[in-house]
Amino acid sequence: MARRKKGEEKNMGKVAIYPGSFDPITYGHIDVVERALEIFDKVIIAIAENEEKRPLFSVEERLQMVKAFFKDTPKVIVDSFKGLLVDYVAKTNAIVILRGLRATSDFEYEFHMASMNRSLNTHLDTLFMMTSKDYFFVSSRTIKEVARLGGGVEGLVPDLVVRRLKEKFKLPVAKKKQIGWDD
Ligand code: PNS
Repeated sequence: MARRKKGEEKNMGKVAIYPGSFDPITYGHIDVVERALEIFDKVIIAIAENEEKRPLFSVEERLQMVKAFFKDTPKVIVDSFKGLLVDYVAKTNAIVILRGLRATSDFEYEFHMASMNRSLNTHLDTLFMMTSKDYFFVSSRTIKEVARLGGGVEGLVPDLVVRRLKEKFKLPVAKKKQIGWDD
């Protein structure tokens, strides 16, 4: 009898693990998850507790936002992890690490990370999905910068995230000022 692959035990089906900081989650991330669900039976969104990256949102806040978005999607499991990703993956039924690629500029960072993970666990592959054209310019970093400076990020992140960003950056309403040569 053929040996069952990891993840196919207990009728779990094919499970992918989608790790990241998700500080905060964007529609770019969500697009990757939704397209991955066409291929995998379950996707585990694994939020890294990476305090050294000085995240804007605590891990609890990030968990809450991601869980709220996927509350009606039982094929998505939301969790957090500390330490090495390969150690966390080993505790799950995941058969692959999933990452999104927006542009060639992402490639070097992703290539190093995938190669390091592969060297730590030779059985673990990383699968890359191209972010759809509507979100290729969206990153958590630029979302935070735009929101901090009072710009609109509606349509690029879920409404709950828009609200949480506004709460974080309690910006005073700027007074209108005429800018001219006399200033
Ligand atoms: O969204 P990000 O910040 O690009 O995600 C990076 C993340 C969290 C996937 C990566 O930093 C990670 O896997 N961290 C856990 C620590 C680890 O395993 N490091 C070795 C891989 S280079």
